Amino acid sequence: MKTLIIGAKGFLGRYFHKRFKEMIGTHYQKEEPFELLDLKDPKIEFPLDGYRYALFAGGMSNPGRCEVDPEESYAVNVEGTLKLSKWLLKNGIQPILISTGYVFDGVKGGYLETDPTAPPNIYGLHKAILEKKAPSECLILRAAKLYGLEKGDGTLLDEMAAKLSMGETVLAAKDQVLSPLSIDDFIQAIVELQKVGASGIYHVGGKKTSRYHLACKLAEEMRVDQSFVQPVSLDAIPGNFKRAKKTDFCSEKLKAATGFVPTQTEAHCKLFAAKYFSAELVTADE
Ligand SMILES: NC(=O)c1ccc[n+]([C@@H]2O[C@H](COP(=O)([O-])OP(=O)(O)OC[C@H]3O[C@@H](n4cnc5c(N)ncnc54)[C@H](OP(=O)(O)O)[C@@H]3O)[C@@H](O)[C@H]2O)c1
Repeated sequence: MKTLIIGAKGFLGRYFHKRFKEMIGTHYQKEEPFELLDLKDPKIEFPLDGYRYALFAGGMSNPGRCEVDPEESYAVNVEGTLKLSKWLLKNGIQPILISTGYVFDGVKGGYLETDPTAPPNIYGLHKAILEKKAPSECLILRAAKLYGLEKGDGTLLDEMAAKLSMGETVLAAKDQVLSPLSIDDFIQAIVELQKVGASGIYHVGGKKTSRYHLACKLAEEMRVDQSFVQPVSLDAIPGNFKRAKKTDFCSEKLKAATGFVPTQTEAHCKLFAAKYFSAELVTADE
């Protein structure tokens, strides 16, 4: 399926680029081989014959930066994204927008697509506005915490596994509840939704867990003493924006539409244990 990828050099864009072979990518500041596109003033000046989808992996993705520069965040994440989405729809291309669990305040958890939004920070607020203003033909994915499966990729499980393998302590919030998902499964969910011609909002997340529980599970799989996992509160994590504590989703709508069920993160803990496995048990006295 020919897919335009906005922000093909970003974290998600690079994975999308690998998976969607028939693609054109755009960049903002990072050079070729992609086409230049600034969401503040989006202009498509290259042919898109035969293209049916545009994946939006571009924009201001850092909540701290959005807090510092809300005007820029609004211009990129709301106005420019909407303008380009409308242009694409007029040209027969369906926009696939990526939203976030930060559209919720994180008090209740277990969120459904129909739950009212209550963003705790500017990043979440602008994503919530985008969701409301986006034309109904857009597909909008609220992505859970995403992680890669490569040793050394620095994402959720890898970061923890690397520390545990070196006998370092992992600080893990006990009060942060997530529904983490591998990027591979996130992309597969997109492909499945493309196949059924979906539009509207879908939650894409895995099984609910706390960050602390996940770190303990990983330590267990790696045969590292649990004392290397130190429980903390999310309130102790520094930052200039308010964090939501329970951002876990219910992804039943995705399952009902496509039959797709992501791999459980606990299975990926086993995978990382195998990648980092040390035959010796690491104990607290070492
Ligand atoms: N990562 C996650 O776990 C996650 C979870 C939920 C939602 N999302 C959403 O998914 C999308 C991608 O996230 P990400 O983590 O991959 O972000 P990222 O690594 O920060 O990449 C963002 C990309 O956007 C491009 N960009 C920045 N400003 C732009 C502008 N004014 N016009 C056009 N492109 C611009 C950058 O291009 P250059 O590289 O060329 O500068 C960069 O490649 C974002 O909308 C984010 O909110 C991500």
